[in-house]
Amino acid sequence: MNHEERILSASHGRDDQLDQALRPRLLSQYIGQEQLKDNLKIAIQAARNRGEAIDHILFHGFPGLGKTTLAYIIANEMETNIRVTSGPVIERAGDLAAILTSLQEGDVLFIDEIHRLNHAVEEILYPAMEDFQLDLIIGQGPGARSVKMDLPRFTLVGATTRTGLLTPPLRDRFGVLLRLEFYRVAELVEIVTRAASVLGIRIDPAGAREIGGRSRGTPRIANRLLKRVRDFADVRASGHITAEVADAALNMLAVDAQGLDEMDRKIILTIIDKFRGGPLGIDTLATAVCEEKNTLEDVYEPFLIQKGFLVRTPRGRMATRAAYEHFGRAFTGGDNDAGPRLF
Ligand SMILES: Nc1ncnc2c1ncn2[C@@H]1O[C@H](COP(=O)(O)OP(=O)(O)O)[C@@H](O)[C@H]1O
Ligand SMILES: [Mg+2]
Repeated sequence: MNHEERILSASHGRDDQLDQALRPRLLSQYIGQEQLKDNLKIAIQAARNRGEAIDHILFHGFPGLGKTTLAYIIANEMETNIRVTSGPVIERAGDLAAILTSLQEGDVLFIDEIHRLNHAVEEILYPAMEDFQLDLIIGQGPGARSVKMDLPRFTLVGATTRTGLLTPPLRDRFGVLLRLEFYRVAELVEIVTRAASVLGIRIDPAGAREIGGRSRGTPRIANRLLKRVRDFADVRASGHITAEVADAALNMLAVDAQGLDEMDRKIILTIIDKFRGGPLGIDTLATAVCEEKNTLEDVYEPFLIQKGFLVRTPRGRMATRAAYEHFGRAFTGGDNDAGPRLF
């Protein structure tokens, strides 16, 4: 594998193979995110009618909600090739230049974790996105020369967890900004049911309901839990997933009825028991639960906030009354009652 191939095929994480197998290929198979899909359909249809590449698209949303899947779907729907890479693996401007010059007219270039591009690389992207121009400086000092060349009209699809992580000049160069939301339980049930049929897993509707309801609003987690529950069912219940089997398996995996896992519990109980409900800063919290600040902000907090167990206030993070109740703790301060109520 040469250098460029490595940059293009960098894979991340153990769930990759499962993700690949379960990815819907067409927009019509993509469950949920209705508003986003409507916007995307129009962009795709308009581009197809004009015989042009689509505008550059930025997806933002928490991990596992379906950004990478959408990038592949766009290429499929446009019937073009897709090249896949990610921010942190493109180390040098030359690496990106090599990828850009290898693109063909209409290709999709997907850059995952685009907020992690370094500055020198990002600078190459500006004229490439705006004018389909490569503007590269080769060498250093007095011998340096500038190379300019035309690029094919391609579509850049970027993915990031939060748009606020992007520099404004990069963000402004995207024509379409689309945000992914957490999924509703009914949608997750549909995703679990579809995944079960793809993987040949026998599951009752009530079993799918149990898994979907405990998946943190996130398809990747729904698929992962389905696989774990399948293992349990194979060993304990001759491979058939009923509501009871799913419940027993998820309890064993320490995923509670609300979908909270070990780390969620640790976060909330740390705030309640060690910091009297808060407020406390994110850095203090990260240290107290031994987790990286970014992971807390991108993976755990959004779900706990959506559940109404945690709130962000100007003074810091606080546990809500609902959190105290969920964990069977006596709610102490009216001061801490920062639920969905507005001031
Ligand atoms: N809308 C959806 N419908 C069906 N499956 C989905 C959907 N969104 C995501 N998935 C599944 O969830 C997994 C994770 O999605 P992915 O696109 O990798 O998320 P992200 O890139 O946002 O982290 C994929 O393998 C896919 O099977
Ligand atoms: Mg992804």
